[in-house]
Amino acid sequence: MGLSSFMIPGLLVLFISKGVSGVTFTFVNKCDFTVWPGILGTPSLDTTGFELTKGGSRSFQAPPGWSGRFWGRSGCHFNQSGHGSCSTADCNSGQVECHGAAATPPATLAEFTLGSGTQDFYDVSLVDGFNLPMIVDSNGGSGPCRSTGCAADLIRQCPNELRVGNGDACKSACGAFGSPQYCCYGAYSSPSTCPPSMYSQMFKSACPKSYSYAYDDATSTFTCSGADYTVTFCPSISSQKSSDNSPALGSESESTTATATLANLATGGSTRKHPSCGGLVTQLALSLLLLFLYHSHSYNCSLSVTFHED
Ligand SMILES: *[C@@H]1O[C@H](CO)[C@@H](O)[C@H](O)[C@H]1NC(C)=O
Ligand SMILES: *[C@@H]1O[C@H](CO)[C@@H](O)[C@H](O)[C@H]1NC(C)=O
Repeated sequence: MGLSSFMIPGLLVLFISKGVSGVTFTFVNKCDFTVWPGILGTPSLDTTGFELTKGGSRSFQAPPGWSGRFWGRSGCHFNQSGHGSCSTADCNSGQVECHGAAATPPATLAEFTLGSGTQDFYDVSLVDGFNLPMIVDSNGGSGPCRSTGCAADLIRQCPNELRVGNGDACKSACGAFGSPQYCCYGAYSSPSTCPPSMYSQMFKSACPKSYSYAYDDATSTFTCSGADYTVTFCPSISSQKSSDNSPALGSESESTTATATLANLATGGSTRKHPSCGGLVTQLALSLLLLFLYHSHSYNCSLSVTFHED
């Protein structure tokens, strides 16, 4: 028996145990109110939804190769037996845990595809609208590893025609009007035939690093290797308003101008609903990059995705 017969299994164990260490996601709530994060991903993590009180934080492990999304629900009321609902981004499970159900738009989404010995891809998407300011920071990785997200208060800047009834979230144009040119389907189902709209441009100018619509450019996807990630709800909005020391995450003056411009738009305001698939498009683009199939179990989209680089 040679030494190698012991070494090979030994190396394998080393490799696997390094592999299973995975990524730590930490959720931080800097909002003035309780947030109920929702998690949808493959494979399932320890929880699919939980309560995060003001000032609270909580961490979870995700295995290599994990792919999924996070969002924050607000205005939730759950009774003593744990039954209830939320006023924004509800997953309609009737419980704190989402059990595989997705967020009801409008919902700010943080989307991740973790590598397995390769780089992670992540983005913050406004394709399904906006309900809470949210940023993603990486800790201790190598590569570009830039922060991304949307720290601006897009609810205050939301044009009337995109507001949800109670005014605590802002729909995407696709979510509000459901038409092919805003949702990028039918004759508009490619990057070249579905350019940014006035609405997606408003989102983009307020939050340049976020995905603003289905075919937003590749600059909205970020990469990092070997990092842990922090997802922060309501990241220091007040300091950003006064000093604007992170202009890339939200520029007050630009977006105010954009909103003023929007006020002049005639909209023909239909409020038909169309299932919003933009978040999935983002996931698919990431997955194509990784050359593996993204198995989605709870979405219903049949879009063909062409990944394009600038
Ligand atoms: C909680 O809400 C559910 C659904 O509305 C209801 O069936 C249940 O009786 C409630 N439980 C309590 C303890 O109030
Ligand atoms: C998916 O969407 C298509 C077209 O919108 C619809 O006909 C079909 O019933 C949907 N399937 C499910 C499982 O929701």
